[in-house]
Amino acid sequence: LRDKYLGQIAGAGDEADLETVRLAAVGKKGEIALKMRELGKMTPEERQQVGPALNALKDEITSAISARKAGMEDAALDARLRTEWLDVTLPTRARRRGTIHPVSQVTEEVTAIFADLGFSVAEGPQIETDWYNFDALNIPGHHPARAEMDTFYMARAADDDRPPHVLRTHTSPVQIRSLEKTGAPTRIICPGRVYRADYDQTHTPMFHQVEGMAIDRDISMANLKWVLEEFCRAFFEIDGIELRFRASHFPFTEPSAEVDIRCFWEGGTLKLGEGDDWMEILGSGMMHPKVLAAGGIDPDVWQGFAFGIGIDRLAMLKYGIPDLRAFFDSDLRWLRHYGFGA
Ligand code: PHE
Repeated sequence: LRDKYLGQIAGAGDEADLETVRLAAVGKKGEIALKMRELGKMTPEERQQVGPALNALKDEITSAISARKAGMEDAALDARLRTEWLDVTLPTRARRRGTIHPVSQVTEEVTAIFADLGFSVAEGPQIETDWYNFDALNIPGHHPARAEMDTFYMARAADDDRPPHVLRTHTSPVQIRSLEKTGAPTRIICPGRVYRADYDQTHTPMFHQVEGMAIDRDISMANLKWVLEEFCRAFFEIDGIELRFRASHFPFTEPSAEVDIRCFWEGGTLKLGEGDDWMEILGSGMMHPKVLAAGGIDPDVWQGFAFGIGIDRLAMLKYGIPDLRAFFDSDLRWLRHYGFGA
């Protein structure tokens, strides 16, 4: 009996085999239990011999089983450790971090500078009604400025009776939306995306502007000039920054001025401050009385200036980026080179 069971225990392949052996040998209905039951039929002498022998055998088998079981568990653990090991001394893989896009960076810089000058941030939708984008800004339906702006019109069904919608061609509609919300006096900027069907080295169909507007009872062109010069000095970090105010025309400002910044090309790079070239960076002027009225403000009481700056142009100038189209190519090498916070 002893040899039989010790042999089976040694030969058990896994814990299930071992359990089968255990039940057959020392289980309640196992062979040793059966033998125990036969003790009753024995003489007291026989009983005194056989009883302790059976008990000893039972103990021996039980401990042989648990020793074997412990051995199996050790082996399983060893196998697991062997397959799951991890070399914590290996060098780590380099992690690529994203960078801040130059346009986002410049938008933050611009917002911070105008915040110092007392301007808060307003926002408006990129899909506008043609009323906000044009009519309210004194650009009626027949006005040539509508054609000049290369507007993207939203497609609409013939029986759609909603007003026509456009992708806003400038951030100026936010002048009206902001006036409707807060009235005067006010000082806001609105950075955001704008859209025009135009594509070359300095134009992309989607680009960024920051609109500015200041309204009070005694605002003049001198205030506009000071604010823009102050802004450029802070943004370009050049004290004697040279701006050119060029008389211009916008339907929504009178008088109007476009502002250029002195620059020159060196190799393929745009440099600032010196040279014979001028890069246009913004349009501006005194807000037209019709625009103030469209925003619900009495033009006899309030005056204001407004401007629209090309954010991408600012980024090109400040960081010497030659081609505007690269901003929107999503070329990772370009983004790592020109991005911020790498
Ligand atoms: N909206 C004009 C443009 O996109 C810029 C501008 C804004 C001009 C405000 C005057 C006043 O060209």
